[in-house]
Amino acid sequence: MTGGRELVMVSNRLPVDRVVNEDGSTSWRTSPGGLVTAVEPIVEQLGCLWVGWAGSADERVDPFEIGSMRLAPVELSEEDVELYYEGFSNGTLWPLYHDVIAQPEYHREWWDRYRQVNRRFAERVAQEAAEDAIVWVHDYQLQLVPALLRQLRPDLTIAFFLHIPFPPSRLFAQLPWRKRIVEGLLGADVIGFQQVTDAVAFRMTAERFTRAPALGNTVVVPATADRPSRTVLAQEFPISIDAAAFAAVAERPEVRRRAQEIREELGNPKTLMLGIDRLDYTKGIRHRLKAYNELLADGEIDAADIVFVQVATPSRERVEAYRQLRDEVEVTVGRINGEHGAIGRAPLVYLHRGYQRDEMVALYLAADVLLVTPLRDGMNLVAKEYAACRVDEQGVLVLSEFAGAADELRDALLVNPHDIEGLKAAIVRAAHMPKEEQRRRMHSLRRAVHHNDVSHWAAGYLGAVQAAAESRQVGP
Ligand code: G6P
Repeated sequence: MTGGRELVMVSNRLPVDRVVNEDGSTSWRTSPGGLVTAVEPIVEQLGCLWVGWAGSADERVDPFEIGSMRLAPVELSEEDVELYYEGFSNGTLWPLYHDVIAQPEYHREWWDRYRQVNRRFAERVAQEAAEDAIVWVHDYQLQLVPALLRQLRPDLTIAFFLHIPFPPSRLFAQLPWRKRIVEGLLGADVIGFQQVTDAVAFRMTAERFTRAPALGNTVVVPATADRPSRTVLAQEFPISIDAAAFAAVAERPEVRRRAQEIREELGNPKTLMLGIDRLDYTKGIRHRLKAYNELLADGEIDAADIVFVQVATPSRERVEAYRQLRDEVEVTVGRINGEHGAIGRAPLVYLHRGYQRDEMVALYLAADVLLVTPLRDGMNLVAKEYAACRVDEQGVLVLSEFAGAADELRDALLVNPHDIEGLKAAIVRAAHMPKEEQRRRMHSLRRAVHHNDVSHWAAGYLGAVQAAAESRQVGP
C-alpha cells in the first residue's frame, strides 16, 4: 500500500499511553478515542514509525518498539499541555469544529504555543523519516505540520487525515488564525475527511481564505516565485474498523459467557440499554439522560424492566467544559437513581472508566439497545463496533443524524438528539422492537460495516496517497 516507502504516522498521542501504576511502576495502555481504533490495525500490518506524545507532561521517554511499530515520543512540558493541548486544541479547535456546542475561546498565547509545538513535531519527523517516506499526519492538533514539513523535507509525500468534522466556512471564519491553518493543511498532498460535507466545507474555505481555487475534489495552490503550482486532493474517506476482528472476539465462548454474566449481574432486565462514550460534551450524554429520566417519570418505561449502563471514559479532565459536564452528569445520575431506583435495583449504572476490548465486546453482546446520540461526531466508531459484534443479528442501534456514521448506517433508528420527544420515542421503539425487525435492520448494518471496513478505507486513502507519491516523482 505504500509502494515500498517507509510509513510515518504522526499524531498528538501515540497509540499507547504511559501510565504510572500505584506501586510506581509504569505500563502502556491503548490510548482513548477512535483514531487509534481505526489506525492501529493498518499499521500493525504495514509497520511504521509513529511520532507522538506519550501522554504525560514533562516526561522524557526513549524510543521503543511494539510489534512492527517503532514509537518515537515527543516530549510536552506542563505548559505545552496547558496551552497547546488543553488550550488551543481542546478549548479552541475542538468546540469550533463541533458546531460550537461549547463556546470556543481565542487566546493568542494558546495559538503561539500551538505553532511552536507543531513545529517541534515537524522537526522531529524531518529528523527521523527515511528518504521519500510517506508521512501521515493525524487530526486537528497538528494542522500546521504538513506545510512545515514540506519546507523542511520536500522529498516526503505528506498525507493528512482529519478525524473530526471540518466546520462550515461561516463558523471557521471566527478563527483569528484561519488563513494560517488552511495554509498549514495545504502543505499536504492528500487531505482526507470523514464526510462529503467536511471535504466540501474545506475546499470552499480554502478558496475563501487563501484564494487557492477548488477544482473538483482538489484545491490548486497557486505558483509563487520559487515554487510551481500544486494540486492537493481534498476528499472524503469515511473511516472504519476491523469488522472481522470485532466479530471474531464476539464469537469467543468466554466473551459470550461474560455477556451472559453481565446480564445476570444486572438482574436479568427485560431491556439492557447501553451508552459507551468518552465523557465529552459533543456526545449528547446530557440529552440522553434527560430523555431517560422523562420516560421513567412519565411511566412510559418501567424502572423494573430496564437498566441503562452508561460507560463514560474519562477525558480531558482539566478542561473546564469537561469538568462541568462531569459534575452535571454525575448529579443527574444520582437524581435518576434516587428518584426511580429501589433497594437492590438502580435503573442507571454509570461507570466513569474505560474498558479493554474484550469487556466492551461483552457489553455490546449483552445490550439490547445501544444509544449513540452525539450532537456532532466526525464518525463514531462505537456504532460500527456494535454492528460488527452482533453476529446474532439482534440488538437495536439508536443513532444520531449528526454522527458521520449515519451516512452509512441508514437502518439504525436515526434520531435528532436535540429533539427530546423524538429521542424518547426512539428509545421506546427500540426497547419493544420485534426480533424480526431487529434482524432485518442489524443485517443491513452489518453489511454496511463489513463492506466499508478498515482495510477498504485504508486501501482507498493510502491508494490516493500512493498515487500522489508517484505523480510527485514524475511531476515538476
Ligand atoms: C478523538 C480525537 C483524537 C483524540 C481522541 C482522544 O477521537 O479525534 O485525536 O486523540 O479523541 O482524546 P485525547 O484528547 O485524550 O487525545
